[in-house]
Amino acid sequence: MANDRKKPERRSDVPKHIAIILDGNGRWAKKRGLPRTAGHAVGSENFRKIALYCRDIGVDYLTVYAFSTENWKRPQDEVKTIMRLLNRYLHEAIDTMERDRMKMKVFGDVSGLPESLQTLVAQTNEISRRYEGFQANICLNYGGRAELVQAAQRYAEAYAAGEVTQPLTEETFSDYLYSAGIPDPDLLIRPGGEQRISNFLLWQCAYAEFYFTDVLWPDFSPEELEKAIAVYQSRDRRFGGVKA
Ligand code: IPE
Ligand code: IPE
Ligand code: MG
Repeated sequence: MANDRKKPERRSDVPKHIAIILDGNGRWAKKRGLPRTAGHAVGSENFRKIALYCRDIGVDYLTVYAFSTENWKRPQDEVKTIMRLLNRYLHEAIDTMERDRMKMKVFGDVSGLPESLQTLVAQTNEISRRYEGFQANICLNYGGRAELVQAAQRYAEAYAAGEVTQPLTEETFSDYLYSAGIPDPDLLIRPGGEQRISNFLLWQCAYAEFYFTDVLWPDFSPEELEKAIAVYQSRDRRFGGVKA
C-alpha cells in the first residue's frame, strides 16, 4: 500500500464504536474473474487499513463481522481458505499489535474454530490485556442469536449456583455477552449492497444508526468510511425521546 495519505487527525466528533459487516468479498472477486477466495484475501487486508484509520481518527472500538455461525454452510474449500486467512491474519496481528497500538478481541464461539486458530485467539486476547486504547473486536463463528442463548445459559448457571442473587436487568444481562463492558455500537456499516443485519449484534445494535452502501468490502476505503461518518453525524439520535 502506497503511503500517500496524510496521517488523519484524532477528532472528537466521530462515533465511539463502529461496527462493520464485512460483506461483498465474493462478488468483488467474481467481477474480476477471480475465485471468491481472492476476494477474501483482499478483504482481510482491508481490515487492517480501516482499523488503523479508525484508531487514528479517535474511534475507540471497531467491531467487524468476519465469519458467522451460518457461514459454515459454504463450500468446504471456501471455508478452509477463510480459516487459513484468519490464521495468517492473527499471526501477523500478534507481531504488530504492539507497534499498531491496537487491542484485539474475538467475539464468537471460539471452541468451534480449528485448534490452531483457537491458540492464536487465546494469544491475541492475552496480549490485549496488557494494552489500553483502541480496540478491534473480530466476530468469528459469531451469531447474534447464539450469543443471546449462551448469555441466558450462563446467567441461569450462575443463578443456580448462587453466584448471582440480584434480578436480571438489561445492564446485568449485557455482562454475559461477548461485548461485556463495551459500549453499544453507535454506527453499523454494511458494505456489499445488502440491507439486512444477518444475525449480527442483535442486542447491541438496538439504537445503532445503520449505513448501507453498494461499495464492496475490498473497495471500502477510508474515504467511504468518512462518508458513513458524515451521514451518521447528520442523523438525529433521539433514543425514543423528543428533540429538546
Ligand atoms: C463476506 O463476503 C465475507 C464472509 C461472509 C466470510 P462474502 O463472501 O459474503 O461476499 P459476497 O456477499 O458473496 O459477495
Ligand atoms: C454476513 O454476510 C456475515 C459476514 C460478513 C461474516 P453473509 O454474506 O454471510 O450474509 P448474507 O448471507 O448475505 O445474509
Ligand atoms: Mg455476503
